Amino acid sequence: MMRLQGKIALITGGGSGIGEATAKTFAREGATIMIADRDEAGAARVASEIKAAGGGAEYVTVNVAKPSEVERMVQTTADRFGRIDVLLNNAVYTGVGRVADLALDEWQRTLDVSLTAYFYATKLVLPIMVRQRAGVILNTSSTAGLVSDYKLAAYAVVKAGVIALTRNTAIEYARKGIRCNAVCPGSTETPGFMRTLARPRGFKETFASHIPIGRFAQPSEIANVMLFLASEEASFVTGACIVADGGFTAHSGNPYVPGQGPDWE
Ligand SMILES: NC(=O)c1ccc[n+]([C@@H]2O[C@H](COP(=O)([O-])OP(=O)(O)OC[C@H]3O[C@@H](n4cnc5c(N)ncnc54)[C@H](O)[C@@H]3O)[C@@H](O)[C@H]2O)c1
Repeated sequence: MMRLQGKIALITGGGSGIGEATAKTFAREGATIMIADRDEAGAARVASEIKAAGGGAEYVTVNVAKPSEVERMVQTTADRFGRIDVLLNNAVYTGVGRVADLALDEWQRTLDVSLTAYFYATKLVLPIMVRQRAGVILNTSSTAGLVSDYKLAAYAVVKAGVIALTRNTAIEYARKGIRCNAVCPGSTETPGFMRTLARPRGFKETFASHIPIGRFAQPSEIANVMLFLASEEASFVTGACIVADGGFTAHSGNPYVPGQGPDWE
């Protein structure tokens, strides 16, 4: 028995990385996917790869920073399929800079793409799910919503905001048959993240060595958490933020006394 048989899933940022892996995982479990991405080539590729594997998928090109385009994305999906069972808010933009150096327009763009778009898509999809008396909303947060990294205040704020939005959506719609959960991935080997670690040479390996499990997540490992949350197996899970980070946030981050570190050093 497939776990998402007959379901319609709308996935923002579905043209790459975690969104792509989740789209393919959901499709393998019987869902039909609407890939929503600003990158038309990526969205078209993922949709055609899903179809080639025997699944159902279409795509819509959208810049989620623009409210009118979020409206069109939701309307197109509802018109095409007559329902929306799963919404995954996942697209991201990240402005970078220390707090005093971060440009206001970079801060604003980060909020537009990575928080306001999540709110607005959720707001527009909720009435559809309320009518259906069923639905699942998933939000991609990050360990960055729980702990901070240098020059990433804007990212930390949107990812913490996503967790708060998840909780509010969950408690307000729990009696309408709608569940809302967030996933907090740790470092995951996606095209987007790997680009940021490309330099200097060898940095990727240093970075991975700070994760207790000793490696990055594969996008499919995050997609599996999404699948659990989207499926009926998670019927009592709402308002949660599931951390999948190879033990990264389990560690305090304190340096260790020489000789008292992990056994692999
Ligand atoms: N990769 C990681 O290590 C990691 C860790 C924690 C959280 N995350 C989160 O996972 C999500 C996906 O990240 P990823 O690593 O797969 O990134 P990615 O760059 O590989 O994919 C992101 C996709 O979003 C699309 N996108 C960006 N801006 C958009 C916009 N304005 N409108 C529509 N689509 C847009 C891009 O075109 C791209 O296809 C993000 O929310 C990210 O913050 C990633």
